[in-house]
Amino acid sequence: MSANDAPLIKLSGIGKNYGTVIALRDVGLEASAGEVTCVLGDNGAGKSTLIKVVAGLHRHDTGDYEVQGEPVAFASPRDALDRGIATVYQDLAVVPLMPVWRNFFLGSEKRKGFGRLDVEFMRSTTHGEMAAMGIDLRDVNQPIGTLSGGERQCVAIARAVYFGAKALVLDEPTAALGVKQAGVVLRYIVQARERGLAVIFITHNPHHAYPVGDRFLILNRGQSLGYHTKEEIGRDELTALMAGGRELEELAHELDAAGSPATAGQLTKEAKSLDPTDD
Ligand SMILES: Nc1ncnc2c1ncn2[C@@H]1O[C@H](COP(=O)(O)OP(=O)(O)O)[C@@H](O)[C@H]1O
Ligand SMILES: [Mg+2]
Repeated sequence: MSANDAPLIKLSGIGKNYGTVIALRDVGLEASAGEVTCVLGDNGAGKSTLIKVVAGLHRHDTGDYEVQGEPVAFASPRDALDRGIATVYQDLAVVPLMPVWRNFFLGSEKRKGFGRLDVEFMRSTTHGEMAAMGIDLRDVNQPIGTLSGGERQCVAIARAVYFGAKALVLDEPTAALGVKQAGVVLRYIVQARERGLAVIFITHNPHHAYPVGDRFLILNRGQSLGYHTKEEIGRDELTALMAGGRELEELAHELDAAGSPATAGQLTKEAKSLDPTDD
């Protein structure tokens, strides 16, 4: 396989410990241009640890990390960014009182003669980039803190796209959002994919992952419970693989064995229809 055919990001056999805590064990995934790779799992499954490895924030203890077929050992997120891997963390690094356009260009300000900020350019670019992805910001001068959570996620994504990211890593961008706002962010994820980015989308909600995902990695307590393409797995199966569904089903079996069929039946039904996100 030549470097050009290799996936943009490839992890294999990744292991990571924090002292005595085994956060990841033997985990692999691939992310290719124009695809969305979802990482699913309950709290503590190791999702954030995995993306911190991808983002260059943490070094893995075992396994291989390749970018376009080349082994990498990132010392910092800057190294990852230099290879085109941009990460949007759950707690967005935005300055709430600064205008949207300042946040968009934060750390990469555009200047004209004598070091003066090219405010006009930054305003119109911010407006144009957001519009190109389907969000019409009324006013790019408004403080970013006045935007909804979903819109703020979208600004962070648009920014990564504008500054030339090849891969976009999103840690639970929809977790704190209501249904409508989550929809906005999901649409944006699809836009990034259509622009040819490799997207890694972390979520604990299979109902968010399934419509936009091409591949699905399910983590449970640091280990892979399965890695499937969309053709290989249905939404129900994906949901059932999630820890919550599994544990409820186990509990139902236990109750069955203990001879309380009514409760057990109820729980089985609940496990089957479980949406593990009630946030
Ligand atoms: N910096 C850290 N130090 C020690 N343990 C950690 C640290 N970060 C995460 N962990 C532990 O590693 C495991 C996986 O955590 P994390 O990757 O944050 O999971 P998730 O994002 O899926 O909720 C958990 O048991 C967590 O407590
Ligand atoms: Mg996390």
